Amino acid sequence: MRVIDTVAAFRKELDAGRARGRTVGLVPTMGYLHDGHGSLIRRAAGERDVTAVTLFVNPLQFAATEDLSTYPRDLERDVAIASAAGADLLFAPPVEQMYPDGVPIRTTVSVAGPSAGYEGASRPTHFAGVATVVAKLFAVAGDCRAYFGEKDFQQLAVIRRMARDLSFPVHVVGCPTVREPDGLAMSSRNVHLSPAHRAAAPVLHRALTAGRDAIARHGERDPAAVVAVVTAAVAAEPLAELDYAAAVRADDLSVPATLSGEVRLLIAARFGSVRLIDNVGVIL
Ligand code: PAJ
Repeated sequence: MRVIDTVAAFRKELDAGRARGRTVGLVPTMGYLHDGHGSLIRRAAGERDVTAVTLFVNPLQFAATEDLSTYPRDLERDVAIASAAGADLLFAPPVEQMYPDGVPIRTTVSVAGPSAGYEGASRPTHFAGVATVVAKLFAVAGDCRAYFGEKDFQQLAVIRRMARDLSFPVHVVGCPTVREPDGLAMSSRNVHLSPAHRAAAPVLHRALTAGRDAIARHGERDPAAVVAVVTAAVAAEPLAELDYAAAVRADDLSVPATLSGEVRLLIAARFGSVRLIDNVGVIL
């Protein structure tokens, strides 16, 4: 695996690969890789000739009050994990490569619709920051399949919409959430949990599973009643502070009068200073 740190070299490498008839898989990350990232890289490597992982902690998607400076970083470890998972290239640019004129930048991409509500409500500039950096990565990478996790379900919806609306030659692939044995969704932020909060955090998956059971086993079709089930399950854990729980349509994240088709249960909660998100799907 080669590590590249300039935009020009990354673009040249992928263009050269395509010129030789090789297909490209792109896996954008912010590093501190875990097996959730690993699953995306393995999937890309299994489907594409050239697998490129990008590692960039994007300042544009962090608000002033958020954890940009404490976001965990370990390039050496990330190189080992990406390589073992089958990556051919690791693009790890410094901030000046991605934002040569500094941040904020004049041109940003905002995706109306899926960016509103849920994560967008508590983090109003977050998805514009994500959509902008992913648009830049797509513009540099060119024709490819790009792999994203369902773990960040709203982000996946924003990126799908952005790729369609801006005609990027990129096929966005959503991949299932990888969990710890106790159900906690893997996240780079989990390392910041205190031992007590780490022990409490699997309540998110338990609550989502209770909501899914209410729908799939007990026939509940009222979104508010499902949210009540999820909320009650979270309330049983005193260290969890619920931000939101929702039962939405998977395609546009709207709340239907009656649940049908592809449903997604979304949740966000704080455990001390760490905010975690999770979701599960049900097909009716
Ligand atoms: P990051 O949080 O590093 O996640 C990179 C990719 O890994 C995302 O597509 C995310 O959904 C996926 N991922 C994270 N945890 C996962 C898990 N437990 N199972 C499966 N996939 C998982 O998301 C970002 O970075 C950034 O916002 C980014 C898209 C790179 C733009 O900066």
